[in-house]
Amino acid sequence: MADQQRFIDDNRAMWDDRAPAHAASRDYRVEEYRTDPDALSTVVAFDRQWLGDIAGRSAVHLQCHIGTDTISLARLGATPVVGLDLSPASIEQARGLAADTGDEVEFVVGPVDDAVELLGGRTFDLVYTGVGALCWLPDIDRWGGVVADLLAPGGTVFVRDAHPVLLSLDDEDDTFTLRYPYFETDEPITWTGDDTYVDVADHQVADLPSHEWNHGLGEIVTALLDRGLVVDHLVEHTWTDWPPWGLWEPVAPGFWALPEPLRAHLPTMFSVRARRPSST
Ligand SMILES: C[S@@+](CC[C@H](N)C(=O)[O-])C[C@H]1O[C@@H](n2cnc3c(N)ncnc32)[C@H](O)[C@@H]1O
Repeated sequence: MADQQRFIDDNRAMWDDRAPAHAASRDYRVEEYRTDPDALSTVVAFDRQWLGDIAGRSAVHLQCHIGTDTISLARLGATPVVGLDLSPASIEQARGLAADTGDEVEFVVGPVDDAVELLGGRTFDLVYTGVGALCWLPDIDRWGGVVADLLAPGGTVFVRDAHPVLLSLDDEDDTFTLRYPYFETDEPITWTGDDTYVDVADHQVADLPSHEWNHGLGEIVTALLDRGLVVDHLVEHTWTDWPPWGLWEPVAPGFWALPEPLRAHLPTMFSVRARRPSST
């Protein structure tokens, strides 16, 4: 059995290090939330087509990082809204931003695995997560249990995240070499490096280890189905919210895709939506 607590502790330290730099990065557009009360993250602005009308509905955002997507859910009218993240420094940024903007969002520090306990058994109409989230969780079946327990009867979970096929490819060159496991493994994929996925300008980020686990698309969907959730949306996409490596080209503000004719060769993200039946 891998030393999962050490891996999670390493990940917390890495995300704590990145949080202030991400909050200062123009890619997260944090200043825009302060000056424009209608500003939304590109992630939530895109996903709202699949969320339906969330005005007046309760929502929890798992792995909320510095809170930009979470605040966006509140700006679409969700209430109450809670964001949860492992990293205290990320939550500090999220709380600071919400205090400045006046958006009513509660932020909670802790691992997804403990979310039900940390949220006092509360349940929500929407569980929202994704865009660089599931790869930080060692056990996707356990995640499915947490999601189901957080859902109110009739509630919906929506996830849009990196496709596990994309995550199994070598990201150092453009040869599409199958380098990492596609299915969940006990041992993580360990990374080091003093870089991150957004432009942090003159902010430094430290060279710290981090650990990821891939989960096959079937494993992710099965984790939800096994809890009796009803999947009513499953789509594989050809674009991402970040450029995974050099070959990718911008296709819209905040979105990248492979150049043609490669676009049809690779699923890059997936989205899944599932509902807890009203009677359970
Ligand atoms: C790339 S961010 C994803 C959030 C969002 N899409 C964004 O870009 O703002 C990943 C977040 O997952 C959090 N995280 C990693 N492992 C976690 C865990 N086991 N439980 C809760 N949060 C975790 C990190 O602290 C980080 O803030």
